[in-house]
Amino acid sequence: MIAPIDFTQCERLPNRAYNGANGKKIAVRYDGDVWIVKFPPSAADKPTALSYSNSCLSEHIASSIANMIGFKSHETRLGTFTNGKTKIVCGCRDFTASGKILYDFCSIKNTVIDSETGGTGTELDDVQETIDRQAFVDPVSLKAHFWDMFVVDAFLGNFDRHNGNWGFLVDPTTGKAEIAPAFDFGSCLLPQADDDIMRRIIDDKTERDARIYNFPASALKENGRKIGYVDFFHRHADDLLAPSLVRITPRIDLAAISAFIGDVPFLSDLQRTFYKVYITARYEALFAQQKVCEHPYFGSAMPTGCAVAEEIGTLRHGRFDDI
Ligand SMILES: Nc1ncnc2c1ncn2[C@@H]1O[C@H](COP(=O)(O)OP(=O)(O)OP(=O)(O)O)[C@@H](O)[C@H]1O
Ligand SMILES: [Mg+2]
Repeated sequence: MIAPIDFTQCERLPNRAYNGANGKKIAVRYDGDVWIVKFPPSAADKPTALSYSNSCLSEHIASSIANMIGFKSHETRLGTFTNGKTKIVCGCRDFTASGKILYDFCSIKNTVIDSETGGTGTELDDVQETIDRQAFVDPVSLKAHFWDMFVVDAFLGNFDRHNGNWGFLVDPTTGKAEIAPAFDFGSCLLPQADDDIMRRIIDDKTERDARIYNFPASALKENGRKIGYVDFFHRHADDLLAPSLVRITPRIDLAAISAFIGDVPFLSDLQRTFYKVYITARYEALFAQQKVCEHPYFGSAMPTGCAVAEEIGTLRHGRFDDI
């Protein structure tokens, strides 16, 4: 198990600060580098028995899995911070420490001045148009990145990939821009699930399916409505999502993910089982195409021989065998 870090004694860096609505954040120096320490947000006004949401666990588990499947994301470590109370926190290595500037997609969207909508709009057509018209990076590779991100977020159940939660790094000396590593995975993997909900998701297929087929939905919208992930995969596996599915699906190794979850510090047995069951179920719903097509939520069976499933000859229907 990778040992958790006690960030309490780390040097604080008072001249760095981070925005975001989900919990406090400070900058510290750890092992010679700049790290953001993300604290868990209060869950007091949320429909959960948790006092603090599990978003720090989600941040670490989801960004680590994203990296495992080859989607470049920030590096994270779980740890603690004591300030009166000891809290479980998530350390994120600051990828702007070298002086590069992070511009989020919201600010890039604002530069398209003849667009009707503002930077925060997440209507899919609009986001696509911005990707085509922005001048920061090559639109073709940006579009590929965008759909890869969509597929990874779908797998991890991210309901908060708004336009402030992805972006670009610009080197101020050369002016060169690149796509930033992915960050903010705090809204993946049901961060508000308390013990009772986790038990129900593990034991009851109806409860589990509701949290895969009905919600969480994407932050992106079609005609003003949030996009349902499984439904979108069902409709677009053969066109919009096809290149990303071909790239990403063979890289999802459930056995490796299971081993990783087995090693995450601080988790109870219930939490470990919950993450494994939920991730496996999301995998089956999204990537094992035939199962998606046959699922009763869709009423009728899809034609057999989904092109993507055929192309991915190596599709792994892996299962966790230790649950
Ligand atoms: N690894 C990182 N390196 C550099 N900057 C980062 C990193 N992770 C996050 N940030 C910056 O810190 C901000 C806040 O972080 P984050 O988005 O994770 O917080 P949040 O409170 O969960 O946000 P939200 O309001 O979207 O829920 C980000 O918008 C980004 O500007
Ligand atoms: Mg954020």
